Formats: sequence, structure tokens, C-alpha cells
Amino acid sequence: MNAIRLDGKVAFITGGANGIGEGAAMNIARYGGDIAIADNDAKNGERVAAAVRALGRKAIYIPTDVMHTEQIDSAVKQTATHFGRLDILVNNAGGSRRVSFLEQSERSWRKHIDLNFISMLTATQAAAGAMISAGNGGTIINIASSEALRAAPGYAVYAACKAGMVSFTKSMSLELANHDIHVHALAPDMIKTPGLSPYFDLASAEMNAARDRYIPLARLGSTDEIGNVIVFLASGMASYLNGLTIPVDGGALASSGWTRSPTTGEWNLYHG
Ligand SMILES: NC(=O)c1ccc[n+]([C@@H]2O[C@H](COP(=O)([O-])OP(=O)(O)OC[C@H]3O[C@@H](n4cnc5c(N)ncnc54)[C@H](O)[C@@H]3O)[C@@H](O)[C@H]2O)c1
Repeated sequence: MNAIRLDGKVAFITGGANGIGEGAAMNIARYGGDIAIADNDAKNGERVAAAVRALGRKAIYIPTDVMHTEQIDSAVKQTATHFGRLDILVNNAGGSRRVSFLEQSERSWRKHIDLNFISMLTATQAAAGAMISAGNGGTIINIASSEALRAAPGYAVYAACKAGMVSFTKSMSLELANHDIHVHALAPDMIKTPGLSPYFDLASAEMNAARDRYIPLARLGSTDEIGNVIVFLASGMASYLNGLTIPVDGGALASSGWTRSPTTGEWNLYHG
């Protein structure tokens, strides 16, 4: 019954100050874990750390720009020193802006790669080293995207980075298995976060109708619904799982080209 608990475990979460990272922090803490938030948003990083402490868990906010590998390295070291161990890494900081690839500058695509891919490499190497030193095994969870598993016009470089995360997840699940470090990826579709709102008017009828056409559960996901899956994967309940990519998407990957008629509710491969 207690296998789901994370008591005594320490989680390092990039981008933990808002959105999915905040959901990860709060849910890991609810199940007993202590939290290090590595983010460049100090106000919200401190806010989430205080909310975790209000649950009776320990938390630190470490100002970190994940575009700078030395800052990630240093934040991981600070976490391991502060708590004396490291058990869970959530590679979550990331994002994109819509841009046609033909118009995208080299500077922009390098920034996408640094933010969405290189940051994961750096944090993984640093955190896996700390987990191995502590000798307790561990769990690494990479927040990819449904865009890793399908086309994403206007987000081509972002999607390629996320697909790279999925591939890296599989390789690491083998390389780190001897140390009992399990590595997984999540592929969320539309999750209600501050990061999503600049792109979509989440309250518009048009947006809701478009969403309901392809997401079987016909709603956005919440950050708690991602956090729940993270807790499960980091817990003893998932002790025989490794190398998975889990779509946490209300069934969107399954619908894959099928859309629901707004008038009849019937699913079809195309609408005339
Ligand atoms: N929201 C969704 O629908 C959705 C869907 C699929 C994948 N994702 C992925 O989930 C992750 C989190 O997305 P979100 O929607 O919660 O985003 P968000 O914008 O709400 O939160 C992102 C967090 O990362 C931090 N961050 C951004 N750049 C940083 C940097 N350079 N250094 C340190 N911290 C930085 C921000 O301060 C913020 O706290 C991203 O990797 C995103 O690609 C989100």
C-alpha cells in the first residue's frame, strides 16, 4: 500500500516554477518527496518552494538558466549537497514559438536545441552521476510532447528536439539500468499551463470545438494529471517499468487522424 509513497526521496525539477514543472513539484511533495526547483523565474520558483514547504516537505529554489550548462551542473551539485541524495530528475524546462522553418534563423533553432535538448543532456549526466554516487537508484522523467510522435508544422525544430528526447530516453534506460536508474518520457498533448496560453485562446468556442474534434476525452489536461503520472513512475509502483514514452494526452495519440463530428459526435477519418 505504501509503494506509491516518495518519502525520503529528493527530486530536481527544471522549469519547476510554473505549469507542468510546478505540478510535478507539488505532486511529488504530496507523496512525501523533497524538492529542488531549477528555474530562471525567481518569483515563481520561490512561490512553489514555499508551497511545498507548506505541505511539510523540504524545498529549495535554485536560480538556474538551463541555457547555460554550467548553471545546471552547479544546481544539481547544490541539490545533492543540500539534501545528501538525489532520486528523481524531471527534465521539464522547454518551449517554443510558432515559426515557419524556412523563415527560422540559425540563432533561433540553436536556442530551441539548447533549451529543449541540450539542457536535458546536461541535467541527465549531472543527476545520474549524483544518483550513482548516492547508490539508491533513481528515476529520470523527460517531458517530451505529443509533437515528438507526430508532425508539427511551425514547430519543426521543437518537435525534432522532443523526438530526440524520446530516443535518448530509450538509450539511457539501457545505459543506466545497471545502476537501477529508470528513464521514461511523457508525451503530453494540451495541458493547461501559463506556457500554453500565449498560443491559444483557451476560452474561445472555436478552440474548444477544434480540441474536441481530436482529443477523445474532449478537454485539456491539468498539471496535476501530469504530476500523477510522474509520481507513479518515480514510485515503487513502477519498479518493473523502464524506457517508456507515455502519451498523457486524453487519447489524442490514439485518435491520430480520426476526428469527432461536432454535430453527431461520430468519429470519422475525414469530414466532407
Ligand atoms: N503545456 C502543454 O500543453 C505542453 C504540451 C507538450 C509538452 N509540453 C512541455 O512541457 C514542458 C513544460 O511546459 P509548460 O507548458 O509547463 O511551460 P510553462 O511555460 O508554463 O513553464 C515552463 C517553465 O520553465 C521555465 N523556463 C523556461 N525557460 C527556462 C530557462 N532557460 N531556464 C530555466 N527555466 C526556464 C519557466 O520559467 C517556467 O517556469 C515544456 O518542455 C513543454 O515543451 C507542454
